[in-house]
Amino acid sequence: MSPRSRELPRRSCLSIPGSSEKMVGKGPGIPADMVFLDLEDAVAPKEKEAARGKIAHALRTLDWGDKVMCVRVNDWSTKWTAYDIIEVVGNSGLRLDEIMLPKVESAAQIVATDMLLRQVEIAAGLPVGHIGIEAQIETARGLINVEEICAASPRLETIIFGPADFAASMEMPVLTGGVQIPQYPGDHFHYVFSKILMAGRANGLQVIDGPYLYIRDGEGFRDYCNRTRTLGYDGKWALHPDQVAILNEVFSPTQEQFDRAHAILDAYNFATEDEGKGAVMFGEEMIDEASRKMALKFISRGERAGLVRSAAS
Ligand code: GLV
Ligand code: MG
Repeated sequence: MSPRSRELPRRSCLSIPGSSEKMVGKGPGIPADMVFLDLEDAVAPKEKEAARGKIAHALRTLDWGDKVMCVRVNDWSTKWTAYDIIEVVGNSGLRLDEIMLPKVESAAQIVATDMLLRQVEIAAGLPVGHIGIEAQIETARGLINVEEICAASPRLETIIFGPADFAASMEMPVLTGGVQIPQYPGDHFHYVFSKILMAGRANGLQVIDGPYLYIRDGEGFRDYCNRTRTLGYDGKWALHPDQVAILNEVFSPTQEQFDRAHAILDAYNFATEDEGKGAVMFGEEMIDEASRKMALKFISRGERAGLVRSAAS
């Protein structure tokens, strides 16, 4: 939970297998807001232990700019989790912002991660509390416990939906994760998206959608991004650099929305402070305190995305 990373945008969260020095080497040049170097499902079991050192080396030596830097460790049902954390956090230095924990099923798994991180931070000479946690919800049990999971540690920065593992956990009759099912009349993940979003927001976390596996289908990807963006999500994973540009666009307010949010705020502030009114007309619509809250969300997201108010607005 480095104060640096908590407020940074995560519109585009790029997954890179930590075992591939070639792919890791390209990471700094890809304009993703957040990068996670994977030790979990994108790395073959026999490569996992060697990948830990490659990841720590890449974090220490490459220039990652102001990206949020994360490593996805293996889940607590494996033999790797604690050793992943000890080796990676112990050897990566200050540039590692957070650990991603997959297949989280209970608050206790977050507490265990938090306690282990504290010891590793002390041993490595890092500030205690420096490393944040991103938690993936991707099993039926994880979804049932998502509210307790989101409240389990001040280190939590984001909650993430993992559609591929979740589909497997629910025994959905699909072979590709994170895409629409045309036979279903609606969005088969709507309840899941909403439940995770509510739990995350109630605890002040950023909320992120997981991968879309048809990496050459830009239009389908854009459609899927718009769904979670419309619900209120902060960002989504990219499995390929081409997906990053779409994410940065879809998950940012437009300049017009950003300027309008500022104008609503100005009008509302004038009404409440100078005129003593709680609700006033703004063009064709009535605005009040709730309008101020909605406008503030656009402004903070726009600022996180680097927007500046237009001079004419
Ligand atoms: C991501 O980890 C997923 O399972 O979708
Ligand atoms: Mg998964």
